[in-house]
Amino acid sequence: MVETVISTRTKRTVRSAQGRKAELVQLTSIKKETHGQRTSTKITELDRVLGGGIVSGMVTLVAGEPGIGKSTLLLQLASNVEGNVVYVAGEESATQIANRAARLGIANPNIQILEETDVDQIIETVSSDVWRVMGALEKKNSHTSPITHHPSLLIIDSIQTLTTTDLTGIAGAVGQVRESAGRLTAWAKRNSVPMFIVGHVTKEGTIAGPRVLEHMVDTVIWFEGERREQLRIVRAMKNRFGPTDEVGIFSMEESGLKEVDNPSNLFLGPLSTQGSAGQSRPSGSVITAIMEGTRPMLVEIQALVAPTKLAFPRRTSSGIDQRRLELIIAVLGRRVGIPLWDYDIYVNVAGGLKIEEPGADLAVALAIASAFKDKPLRVGTFAVGEVGLLGEIREVAQTERRTKEAKRLGFSTPITAKDSSTLSQAVGKYLATG
Ligand code: TYD
Ligand code: MG
Repeated sequence: MVETVISTRTKRTVRSAQGRKAELVQLTSIKKETHGQRTSTKITELDRVLGGGIVSGMVTLVAGEPGIGKSTLLLQLASNVEGNVVYVAGEESATQIANRAARLGIANPNIQILEETDVDQIIETVSSDVWRVMGALEKKNSHTSPITHHPSLLIIDSIQTLTTTDLTGIAGAVGQVRESAGRLTAWAKRNSVPMFIVGHVTKEGTIAGPRVLEHMVDTVIWFEGERREQLRIVRAMKNRFGPTDEVGIFSMEESGLKEVDNPSNLFLGPLSTQGSAGQSRPSGSVITAIMEGTRPMLVEIQALVAPTKLAFPRRTSSGIDQRRLELIIAVLGRRVGIPLWDYDIYVNVAGGLKIEEPGADLAVALAIASAFKDKPLRVGTFAVGEVGLLGEIREVAQTERRTKEAKRLGFSTPITAKDSSTLSQAVGKYLATG
């Protein structure tokens, strides 16, 4: 239960809404949005997630844990957009943002920083005459571009720092977050100004977080990644203007977020790559190909199996669902005859990636079996397939594309459902001891 006290000042808006007749509009008479109005962000990976670029009046929520790179990405975006960009700094001081910009090599005079946390003040500022003057100047300089009365992009960093005096409650409280976002969204829609809102998510998934805003905005993009790793995946969770099955892949570097167009390279550890002939691979490492959006990506699954000293052996996974891991261990025990009950098992996806699809099952199972037998898989092999409770290997979607990507990177021996119909067969074929 969260209390939100509405101050008496808002009553006037309530009264004015009463008893007024609303207008009905015939569906067929509504002017349709013409296509091709998307503005590229000049960041290919971001365009991909947004469905091709920014649409006017599009409100995008950028969600993610603190420190993941939201402000960095938005500052990079701000420097790419033509026209004036207003960056509302609620979280950091203007100086801090200037420092970051310097680090990123951004020196765009069109970025305006607004240090303000009162949402009504912000709206007042971005609607003010200053913009009209700027628009008029623009018109004078160019006859082709329309007059813009408003900034061409508004960035809010972050929604958790904004408040309206019409509500009580501190910044970050559900009521404040919802009301601030609501007012800004209404303004952005009315004036066709695209807007990006930063929303922090904490590990516990705070109630005042992005979840309360999801229904309000057009697009929700989610930042994923381990802070200590370089990899960042930006996923569209909701998109009124495009598909949600695409992801943007970035790497966090010294000079900001770099686009990664060949993601497989990021995940293949030095020991996992093919190497010269005769060079052996460590046991417990298996390459798999997963799909991120519509792109196949090669990753290395690593497993470590060690005798336990505990009554309940450890099953630790990073990047793989714990229950999925336990299931695979049970299948290995019952269907393949690999006794693992007195062994601790650790499984890791190299590079900090989280795998949510079953296509990596087979690689996980083979990595554990390989670690248990201390026998490496042949160089050039990779595994793609789902493991069923009966120990059967099932083909997963897009196996062809995954195989093609693997071959491209020098992995020429696929271990799939086509190759072995059961896990037991695959283990026999690729991990036979002696
Ligand atoms: P930031 O964009 O401030 O995260 P958020 O806005 O999501 O809280 O990113 C902060 C982290 O990124 C910080 O730990 C430092 C790191 N970083 C880099 O590694 N390189 C860079 O160029 C920048 C600007 C930040
Ligand atoms: Mg930030």
